[in-house]
Amino acid sequence: MSDERIGVIGGGIMGSGIAQVCALAGLSVALVDISEAALAKARASIASGLGRQVDKGTLTEQQRAAALGLIATSTDYASLGDAGLVIEAASENLELKQRILKQIGAQVAVDAIIASNTSSLSISQLAAQVEHPGRFIGLHFFNPVPLMSLVEVIRGLDTAEACYSRTLAFAERIGKTAISAGNRPGFVVNRILVPMLNEAIFTLQEGLASAEDIDTGMKLGCGQPMGPLALADLIGLDTLLAILESLQQGFGDPKYRPAPLLKELVAAGRLGRKSGHGFYRYG
Ligand code: NAI
Repeated sequence: MSDERIGVIGGGIMGSGIAQVCALAGLSVALVDISEAALAKARASIASGLGRQVDKGTLTEQQRAAALGLIATSTDYASLGDAGLVIEAASENLELKQRILKQIGAQVAVDAIIASNTSSLSISQLAAQVEHPGRFIGLHFFNPVPLMSLVEVIRGLDTAEACYSRTLAFAERIGKTAISAGNRPGFVVNRILVPMLNEAIFTLQEGLASAEDIDTGMKLGCGQPMGPLALADLIGLDTLLAILESLQQGFGDPKYRPAPLLKELVAAGRLGRKSGHGFYRYG
């Protein structure tokens, strides 16, 4: 087992970004998804993300090729092999993640760290599916992973001190700044951010302003780099809805109720950038 080998489960928006930053830090990555199509999309998005860095002059062509060479994709969990850290970044669904954690546990060494990038599920609850739960921890990245320098590190009830300190060392190794957050729905950043995004959707739903004006208002009035509706599209409206539902359930407070418009868009398959249409159209 080696901390130089990282496993990433799920090759979607987050998993592909996590694989990219790990490879750029010189770590070898086994990226696993159930879907070949998702893996092909992940490889293309990593190649183009690294390509943009080459165009900007922040990366050489050799560094780009070296990073790409460090990422192996597979639909087989056995490819996790001797990974010292596996980061689960599959779809936000409790039963799915519980199943995946068992599959990871069956492949890796007992002292390998198993981390989840969940936005809204309880780390202690997920840990219950992991044999030796001391090695399980929350490691929450931000989107887009290559650009956002924060990770939240969340200890569950049983997370061992050694697992916590190795996770902090990993965050530093890949150039991220870690903050420690308690195991409560939304942790720190989403607890504050997501109700604001929901309020922007209510504002749109009530017809108070257009999507463009809401976003311009928050950019120019609050110095936000991206308006809340554009950010919601970037996060993925299904993911945003899942986080709100877990805040609402976890705290039992109606202030977290999801805007009906958000539910309607998700039901219609308008998930934001990843489906080509959310509050805005893409592509
Ligand atoms: P996504 O929908 O883009 O990707 C999820 C991927 O998981 C898909 O490619 C899917 O094929 C794969 N998958 C499903 N079942 C699987 C299985 N059994 N084994 C392996 N792969 C499987 O989702 P996204 O946005 O990348 O989110 C992933 C996780 O990251 C979620 O837990 C989400 O809450 C969290 N997250 C999302 C953020 C965002 O802004 N989208 C920010 C921070 C965390």
